[in-house]
Amino acid sequence: MDIQKTLEFISDDLTRVEEEFKHNLKSEVQLISTVGEYLLLSGGKRIRPILLLLAARLSGYGGDKHILLASVVEFIHTATLLHDDVVDSAELRRGQESSNSIWGNEASVLIGDFLYSKSFSMAVKCDNIKILRTLSDATTDMAQGMVFELIKTSDMETTEEDYIRVIIDKTAVLIAAACQVGGIIAGVDESKEKALREFGMNIGIAFQLMDDRMDYISNEEAFGKTIGTDLQEGKITLPLINALEECSGAEREYIAGLVESENITDKEFQEALVIINRYGGIEYTLDKAKDYISKAKNSIAIFEDSNEKNALLELADYVIEREC
Ligand code: IPE
Ligand code: IPE
Ligand code: MG
Ligand code: MG
Repeated sequence: MDIQKTLEFISDDLTRVEEEFKHNLKSEVQLISTVGEYLLLSGGKRIRPILLLLAARLSGYGGDKHILLASVVEFIHTATLLHDDVVDSAELRRGQESSNSIWGNEASVLIGDFLYSKSFSMAVKCDNIKILRTLSDATTDMAQGMVFELIKTSDMETTEEDYIRVIIDKTAVLIAAACQVGGIIAGVDESKEKALREFGMNIGIAFQLMDDRMDYISNEEAFGKTIGTDLQEGKITLPLINALEECSGAEREYIAGLVESENITDKEFQEALVIINRYGGIEYTLDKAKDYISKAKNSIAIFEDSNEKNALLELADYVIEREC
């Protein structure tokens, strides 16, 4: 599927969103603009702003506040990436050296804070309390999810339910909020607002499931992130949780050793992957993601057919089709 082609009709909007990014990255402290531009302008799939723009247009929005709001959700996302890469000790982000590797943890945390605060200064300009509530609830949940994930680090008893709770909070709520805000700005009724939120929530869960699957099997160059960091960091994600439910005592012990280990070798990582595949953990994760995508698609059935609806449905498929 050519996702670029599907999105051609919003390319003008997307260009305006990119301009809005640059405008809002200006600061009298040079390091903020430097780091902000380094990360924000280094690519990224722009899935959150794209969803917001499409949701607004699907809802018949004719104004231009969706441009600012699309920038807001990407600013929030970028702030999270800065913090997340510190927490995960990530060396690679979007195919280049991570900001923490170049400028250090302190700068990354503080500039992440700047971007968080800036996103709310931007959002306030829309003068819409419901949108502010939706966005601030989302960022609160995200922080909560990241802390819960931290607590669960290296916990071999982590259940699928725990895991889903983490990914709803840390990833899906922002994607849900992006879709919902697109509807709110257009003034849709409650049922459509709820449908858009449901759509985003299910897309978001599938999105993180696929990211966690790719952390085991993707191609580093194309993925733009280091493979195997989840196991390295003791993050017990669904491919592993699923295998742990069925594996032998010896295999479980082997995995437990790796989860605690400071430095996993390539060979050990490959052995862990063999165990995961033996019990179908990679496949299981994909099947779960497919279930959420099909729920997502059903949730926007109440909208009439349109280019925008079509693009949202294609984006949903893209989430489970991409390999990197
Ligand atoms: C990365 O998000 C963090 C996750 C929620 C998996 P994206 O995969 O949207 O990252 P970019 O913005 O495209 O780089
Ligand atoms: C990302 O989870 C969660 C965020 C909300 C940033 P990951 O830690 O899996 O994301 P990547 O793989 O670093 O992009
Ligand atoms: Mg990470
Ligand atoms: Mg990841």
